[in-house]
Amino acid sequence: MSRHEKILFIFCAIYAFVLFSIIIETSVHEYINTNTTTANTTELISKLKIKPTNFAEWKQRHYMTGYFNKDRKVRIYITEGDWYIRDDLPRLRYKHDETLTICDIPCIWTVKSLNDLTSEELKNADALFCVNQPSLPKKKAWKGQKFIQYTLEPKIHCPQCHDKNHIFDIRATHDASSDIPTSYVRMDSTRWRLVPPFDVKKLSKNSPFISFIASHWTEFRENFISSIETHIPVASFGSVRHNTDSNIHPECGGLSLFDSKNCLISKYPFYFSIENSQEKDYSTEKLWDTFNLGVVPVIWGAPNTRSYLPHPKSAIFIEDFKDAKALADYLKYLVKNETAYLEYHKWRTMKLSDEFEKRSYLSMYNLECNVCREVARLRILEEYNNTDT
Ligand SMILES: *[C@@H]1O[C@H](CO)[C@@H](O)[C@H](O)[C@H]1NC(C)=O
Ligand SMILES: *[C@@H]1O[C@H](CO)[C@@H](O)[C@H](O)[C@H]1NC(C)=O
Ligand SMILES: *[C@@H]1O[C@H](CO)[C@@H](O)[C@H](O)[C@H]1NC(C)=O
Ligand SMILES: *[C@@H]1O[C@H](CO)[C@@H](O)[C@H](O)[C@H]1NC(C)=O
Repeated sequence: MSRHEKILFIFCAIYAFVLFSIIIETSVHEYINTNTTTANTTELISKLKIKPTNFAEWKQRHYMTGYFNKDRKVRIYITEGDWYIRDDLPRLRYKHDETLTICDIPCIWTVKSLNDLTSEELKNADALFCVNQPSLPKKKAWKGQKFIQYTLEPKIHCPQCHDKNHIFDIRATHDASSDIPTSYVRMDSTRWRLVPPFDVKKLSKNSPFISFIASHWTEFRENFISSIETHIPVASFGSVRHNTDSNIHPECGGLSLFDSKNCLISKYPFYFSIENSQEKDYSTEKLWDTFNLGVVPVIWGAPNTRSYLPHPKSAIFIEDFKDAKALADYLKYLVKNETAYLEYHKWRTMKLSDEFEKRSYLSMYNLECNVCREVARLRILEEYNNTDT
């Protein structure tokens, strides 16, 4: 074995070991500390009312909801689906009876526009679910029915996606304070640990080492990319400051839109993860997907992004450099010093931050199950309220 092969081998062995230990640890170490078989129901119900703050509390809320809900179904109609029903996003899959496959609450989701819903269906609906825009009847078919709004759009770009008039009972947004906080994490993030870091030794001499893909123009994107381009080349594939044709990587052709984009991103050790706005909690796939590609994100986005990264040293922040040249110099240094570059991948073998685990758990990937759990939880609370009085 050459020296590099040995290093690679040791790296892989460490990955495998750490991954194995983590799997063992999480299965033995369920975060649930409520023994529902002996606990006092009144106490459990009052616990169900408290908004979770961390990963363990969210899991506990969901566990208790599942316990009280038992086999009762939650029936939800998507009356306004927008992009959500068109795009083939990775998410939990449906069984033939339309219940979700990996959810402890039996969920029935049906896409049906408001006009096509019969009065019988409306009467049986536990909830109506709208992506971005409302599409709702004037009155609820029954008192406990829920109207749900889901959006991952920033407030500045889609004010109407953020209900200020309290039309909706439940809101699922990227805002961590919403009823069902939802992140743009689009996959089971435990597999990120298995992803090998980009191999900087494979970069050809004059290749750019950072890519950028954006189709929506913003002032920051335009100004920042043009200024850093005076110091280092940037492979820009999108329409914003486009300079590279995607067919220079023929293996990235013929894939779905997201796969093709991610294939291009995976060809460079860094990616400019520049959001369209700096809104609290707003981090898109521009950030999260890089971790699945073995690439280090260079970030401009939500002011609190640091608080929910998998690890403090998993990303680079544009704001940490006094100007574009300082950042360019640092990136140049990292591609030349493999040890220093790999420090940005060490998190893959470490314990991830609780705040990240929470966002990974409350992801777009399992949104539908989390929505069902919330409908079930409110139904439980309302029923217990009624039996008390
Ligand atoms: C819950 O309490 C029951 C009854 O005391 C006991 O048999 C069971 O082992 C407990 N379960 C846990 C997970 O502590
Ligand atoms: C359950 O807990 C509540 C509140 O802590 C208490 O008032 C009640 O007496 C308890 N009931 C039983 C059966 O222990
Ligand atoms: C390369 O990076 C490592 C780790 O950060 C550092 O200790 C070392 O001094 C760097 N080497 C050079 C030549 O800068
Ligand atoms: C339960 O009843 C209390 C007091 O009437 C009320 O404030 C609360 O909103 C009710 N909770 C639910 C979930 O209906």
